[in-house]
Amino acid sequence: MASLHSTITMLYALLLASSIAAYAGNLYQDFDITWGDGRAKILNNGELLTLSLDKASGSGFQSKNEYLFGKIDMQLKLVPGNSAGTVTAYYLSSKGSNWDEIDFEFLGNVSGEPYILHTNVFSQGKGNREQQFYLWFDPTADFHTYSILWNPQRIIIQEHGIKGSCIPKESTMRIYSSLWDADDWATRGGLVKTDWTQAPFTASYRNFYANACVHSSSSSSCTSSNAWFSQQLDSTSQERLSWVQKNYMIYNYCTDTKRFPQGLPPECQAS
Ligand SMILES: *[C@@H]1O[C@H](CO)[C@@H](O)[C@H](O)[C@H]1NC(C)=O
Repeated sequence: MASLHSTITMLYALLLASSIAAYAGNLYQDFDITWGDGRAKILNNGELLTLSLDKASGSGFQSKNEYLFGKIDMQLKLVPGNSAGTVTAYYLSSKGSNWDEIDFEFLGNVSGEPYILHTNVFSQGKGNREQQFYLWFDPTADFHTYSILWNPQRIIIQEHGIKGSCIPKESTMRIYSSLWDADDWATRGGLVKTDWTQAPFTASYRNFYANACVHSSSSSSCTSSNAWFSQQLDSTSQERLSWVQKNYMIYNYCTDTKRFPQGLPPECQAS
């Protein structure tokens, strides 16, 4: 049985898998710009979305739909050049005080120095499950596909005993993304500040594809096949995951015994 730990690591493996989604959806149909006062834009008839950040504000968008399970692909091209102090967040989140959230934050850096991918998982409003990775490719040179696979084996299990079809409504999640300034902590723990002479900073998005169940108050409908519903890591992905963990992981809450003197969180005792 999958533990929360394997849940998380599977999500990363899939996030980092750079799978190819040969699908050009219309971003107007799937997303709403939610903040930034004109700094977020949907361009080229819905093929491209850009977020920008300047000294006055960042910007963000969210999905029109709420999802309940699925495989969600998006291509991102992160802020190039000197991106120190900036954070590009891409996450799934539900609402309410007991929210669930699967979080990916890309922490910028000065030119030529590596971004950090900072991840966290919230279950029932409780996070503290951070992991950090360097990336083994330049996420600013081109678009890379990031996939989130979310199925019952992975998310339901972290909710301790909630199984099968009795799925709490709060678990439906929207996709969110934003670009903002976090130079008090993002780059080398806040030592390197945002260089506003480089503004505006821009991150780009395209080729969104949700092979997912769309949830509304009255119904739930799933698009195309549900191969993702029981998808597990195949041996190639498992190997890739080990390689990433061995070579690119810089922090893992599951090995931080100083932080958890009373014992590591239960999901860290992975089978
Ligand atoms: C930025 O580069 C420095 C120096 O290589 C590195 O220590 C740091 O982890 C990098 N990433 C961030 C987000 O600080």
